[in-house]
Amino acid sequence: MACYECHDKFTGKRLLHSPVEAGECTACHNPHGSPFKFMLKASGGDLCYECHDSDLTTAEYVHGPAAVGGCTACHDPHSSDYDMNLRLAGPGLCYSCHTDKAAKFLSANVIHKPVKEDCIKCHNPHSSPVKFMLKQEYPLLCLGCHEKKKEQVYGSKVMHSAVFEGKSCLNCHDPHASSLSMILSMPSMQLCLSCHDRERETEDGTLLVNIKALLQNNTEHHGPVKQEDCSGCHDPHGSDNFRILREPYPAAFYIPFNRESYNLCFSCHEESIVMSTLTTTLTGFRNGDMNLHFKHVNQVEKGRTCRACHETHASSFPKHIRESVPFGVWDLPLNYKKSDTGGSCMPGCHKLKIYDRNERFINP
Ligand code: HEC
Ligand code: HEC
Ligand code: HEC
Ligand code: HEC
Ligand code: HEC
Ligand code: HEC
Ligand code: HEC
Ligand code: HEC
Ligand code: HEC
Ligand code: HEC
Ligand code: HEC
Ligand code: HEC
Repeated sequence: MACYECHDKFTGKRLLHSPVEAGECTACHNPHGSPFKFMLKASGGDLCYECHDSDLTTAEYVHGPAAVGGCTACHDPHSSDYDMNLRLAGPGLCYSCHTDKAAKFLSANVIHKPVKEDCIKCHNPHSSPVKFMLKQEYPLLCLGCHEKKKEQVYGSKVMHSAVFEGKSCLNCHDPHASSLSMILSMPSMQLCLSCHDRERETEDGTLLVNIKALLQNNTEHHGPVKQEDCSGCHDPHGSDNFRILREPYPAAFYIPFNRESYNLCFSCHEESIVMSTLTTTLTGFRNGDMNLHFKHVNQVEKGRTCRACHETHASSFPKHIRESVPFGVWDLPLNYKKSDTGGSCMPGCHKLKIYDRNERFINP
């Protein structure tokens, strides 16, 4: 071949671009001269479009270098060690220009696995109808790989709007990398409170309390809330349980007692506190040896649920006792007072009753 008389063959790399392999140098170069650099027959993408589809860059969001015909910034026109005649493989290709991203992603504690593998798992290198040249809109982009999450997000009995409104998965996760585990974009509780800083309305019209205000106004925070672990109890992606809880917890004020309905509380607390009529050790809520947890909760018909007396997130009273509890349209007051050996309450349910652990108090 004429050109090789003076020019080196493109050897030493794994792959040759087809026309080079076929020795068709003049498919791209005009040996006599040309208005374009390197005596090319056309400039930029036009050269490539002689043989390749020109619709690579016609979608709405076009990658900067592809838009201006900088094809050879990524592709070697002659030969390459990498598939698709690329100058580099995987994220390294992208990092060669996006040096800021390289610095940010590679120094993060947690890097999303596909970002380590290849940016083009999510981005089209040329153009796409989706902003940032994404291959799909999220959440579908994410759910294409996270199939189990797909079932959970769309198939749960109780769905969470956080997954659908605004930036969907990206309300909470960074797609690339983060200093936090699970590539969260903020510490978990801050994420929740960024939306639950006002009342929110569920699908059936229930107004949910402003959790941020509740935590600010009530200083006795429940253990896992102190540890800022909202997702210890709630699954932010959706759940078959009431209030997207990870384990069952009754939705009503009264239910016939059944251990499984309280799996949530008893995943951390001893179930024994509600299992026996008499005790002098299992619970502090007893009058002498009469177990008042048993008496209130463990009833065949009208067992009171924990919410009758306890706040789940925060309270101003010891032992997370509530000030009042919604009972139909009424806010039923508890009037709880704790003492060293017991306590008393005068709720809307009955007149003043006192309990004392040391000696059973005889309530009139
Ligand atoms: C008789 C020797 C000879 C032959 C045959 C030859 N070239 Fe060249 N070519 C040169 C020389 C000398 C240069 C200048 C080298 C330099 O500037 O480093 C050059 C430069 C080039 C350049 C770079 C132009 C630029 O602007 O920097 C291209 C592209 C090129 N040749 C392509 C070809 C192709 C394609 C063929 C076959 C059709 C071919 N050459 C055949 C000697 C030759
Ligand atoms: C598919 C189009 C295409 C074919 C086919 C092709 N070239 Fe090129 N060539 C280019 C482009 C584009 C450049 C500009 C360099 C760049 O952008 O990286 C170039 C640059 C060059 C250069 C100068 C710069 C360098 O990389 O050394 C030489 C020499 C060259 N080609 C020789 C050849 C020879 C010899 C053949 C045939 C064996 C050939 N080319 C086939 C597209 C082609
Ligand atoms: C003369 C025609 C011709 C020109 C001009 C040309 N190519 Fe190609 N290119 C081919 C052929 C033929 C193949 C092999 C196609 C195949 O295997 O499906 C190929 C393969 C490729 C591939 C690998 C695709 C694959 O599916 O393996 C890439 C990437 C590519 N070309 C990029 C470019 C770029 C970038 C330019 C412009 C700098 C360019 N080509 C110019 C003919 C050309
Ligand atoms: C930012 C880097 C980059 C730029 C710029 C770029 N490409 Fe690509 N191109 C890629 C990567 C990465 C792939 C492999 C895509 C894949 O495997 O899904 C590819 C694949 C291709 C392919 C083969 C597969 C396909 O999608 O059809 C062709 C042809 C191609 N590019 C042509 C071009 C042309 C023509 C240009 C200039 C208009 C260009 N590329 C600009 C990175 C780039
Ligand atoms: C040749 C340099 C170069 C390479 C290589 C490159 N990019 Fe880019 N990229 C740019 C430029 C220039 C822009 C436009 C400027 C900007 O928005 O920062 C851009 C923009 C982007 C954007 C859109 C940014 C926005 O704000 O709209 C994304 C996403 C992107 N690149 C991803 C990639 C991916 C993925 C790769 C690897 C397949 C890659 N880039 C490789 C130069 C490059
Ligand atoms: C798991 C999918 C995924 C992978 C893999 C991925 N990205 Fe992204 N990328 C996204 C999403 C989603 C966005 C849009 C972010 C938004 O809307 O705020 C984005 C946005 C971007 C942007 C533009 C916005 C910005 O943050 O500046 C750039 C640049 C970018 N990605 C580069 C890269 C590079 C480089 C790689 C590989 C090292 C990569 N991406 C890998 C999903 C991904
Ligand atoms: C190309 C496939 C792919 C896409 C697209 C994808 N992921 Fe991933 N993701 C993975 C893989 C693989 C892992 C690692 C899983 C493992 O190690 O078990 C992962 C891990 C995660 C993790 C951390 C789980 C852990 O165990 O550390 C989160 C959170 C996550 N992805 C969220 C997302 C979000 C949000 C999106 C959309 C922006 C997304 N993913 C898109 C493949 C993908
Ligand atoms: C409201 C915030 C929020 C939203 C929205 C969200 N996540 Fe998560 N995600 C989390 C938290 C918090 C964790 C860590 C949970 C834990 O500690 O177990 C997590 C964990 C994950 C995990 C790894 C552990 C697991 O549960 O499998 C994956 C994968 C994941 N999310 C994917 C997604 C995808 C895909 C979307 C969008 C469909 C999404 N997430 C939307 C907050 C969210
Ligand atoms: C992007 C905003 C947003 C974020 C972030 C968010 N939520 Fe929500 N959440 C809502 C909205 C809106 C509702 C009411 C609509 C609904 O029920 O989905 C809601 C409802 C809920 C419900 C009641 C669900 C029901 O229907 O019974 C719980 C419990 C909840 N969120 C907990 C959390 C927790 C825990 C986090 C943090 C991991 C969190 N949320 C993060 C917006 C958000
Ligand atoms: C110990 C487990 C647990 C933890 C930790 C927890 N929750 Fe809850 N959450 C519950 C239970 C149980 C309910 C249902 C309470 C009820 O209806 O009596 C609930 C209800 C909710 C509701 C609905 C409130 C309403 O008005 O019905 C929201 C919103 C909520 N939680 C958000 C959060 C946020 C945000 C955090 C972190 C600050 C958090 N939760 C931490 C167990 C927990
Ligand atoms: C994820 C674990 C977890 C879950 C689930 C959980 N708790 Fe707790 N709870 C704790 C921790 C930790 C403490 C703090 C214990 C301490 O300070 O000694 C605590 C403390 C309490 C206290 C105060 C105890 C004391 O001695 O001060 C009450 C009452 C309570 N929880 C009730 C409940 C109820 C009712 C439920 C179910 C709605 C529940 N908890 C679910 C972890 C949990
Ligand atoms: C009728 C009101 C009432 C109901 C219903 C109730 N509790 Fe209590 N609980 C109390 C009182 C009062 C205390 C404080 C006892 C003391 O220390 O004086 C207490 C204390 C606790 C404690 C601290 C340890 C202990 O036993 O002293 C835990 C844990 C607890 N309750 C969990 C629960 C769970 C879980 C439920 C639902 C299954 C529940 N409670 C239902 C009133 C109630």
